[in-house]
Amino acid sequence: MKKINLKVKLGQRIILKNPVVLESGCFGYGEEYRDLIDINRVGAIVTKTITLKPRAGNLPPRLVETAAGLLNSIGLANVGIELFLKEKLPYLKKFSTPVIVSIAGEGSEEYLKLVQILNKEKIAGIELNISCPNIKKNLVIAQDEVETFNLVKAVRKKTELPLLVKLSPNVTDITRIAKSAEKAGADILSLVNTFSAMGIDSETGSPRLGGVVGGLSGPAIKPIALRMVWQVRKATSLPIIGAGGILSCNDALEFIIAGANAVGLGTAIFVNPHAYQEIITGLKKYLFRKAIYDVNELVGSLHEN
Ligand SMILES: Cc1cc2nc3c(=O)[nH]c(=O)nc-3n(C[C@H](O)[C@H](O)[C@H](O)COP(=O)(O)O)c2cc1C
Repeated sequence: MKKINLKVKLGQRIILKNPVVLESGCFGYGEEYRDLIDINRVGAIVTKTITLKPRAGNLPPRLVETAAGLLNSIGLANVGIELFLKEKLPYLKKFSTPVIVSIAGEGSEEYLKLVQILNKEKIAGIELNISCPNIKKNLVIAQDEVETFNLVKAVRKKTELPLLVKLSPNVTDITRIAKSAEKAGADILSLVNTFSAMGIDSETGSPRLGGVVGGLSGPAIKPIALRMVWQVRKATSLPIIGAGGILSCNDALEFIIAGANAVGLGTAIFVNPHAYQEIITGLKKYLFRKAIYDVNELVGSLHEN
């Protein structure tokens, strides 16, 4: 049987054994999923977004299901960089899988401090979360070309680690932000973060989320995220990690055909922690059936008139 190649290269230095990435914020710090997910089998992991100081996050409720998705208002709750490096990162580094650390700061100075700290660590890359809809100061970066350019450029000057930028779908034209990030020196683009959204309990007349407005993820956002990946593929030449509502192998295939070099799983991990394995197996079967043999050949292969 001819061998199927699932290996993908993101930029010059990140090599994934397969294109399935666990997205930021959806598998705790990894250890919580010890019995459910074999991190060695995943293409790469992006950690929960880490900030300089620990953050308690937003008021509960923080997670609410919708008809076809998940609303979250976590508010970047995390242990802070010091404890993360001491207690969380060592577990993730035990595996052969690239670890990308997601960071967010309140202003560029905090991002730069985080980057300087992470420069000393053996990690595969840094992802700049500039698109958390639960933190106003954070999302405004990904909604503005100049802010995105300035932050990415400032960080680029301070690190030689591969630099990923996580884009927001809460914009009029995502390609403009993608191009700004590329011009400023980003190596890889991750898209998309969650869609700004809310829910209301009509009985009580109260918002369903403690933070009132949160982020929508899951199957409901898939067609929109897919369209954005397709647009960004045409607008930049950077590698793309495409995410947004991917639950199945077919979903993953759609993102790859639209132009994603790798696919991210977020909400899927809550629904079916084994989704990553099903997608990897499904990709192999699909490539074999189509006699393509190399997943990279499928990237951006959409037939258009
Ligand atoms: C509970 C929850 C927490 C999240 N936390 C983060 C985070 O800390 N940093 C980040 O960049 N994205 C975060 N995200 C966004 C996901 O990484 C992903 O971009 C988004 O949910 C879309 O993918 P999905 O539909 O597969 O979940 C979070 C999403 C959820 C549902």
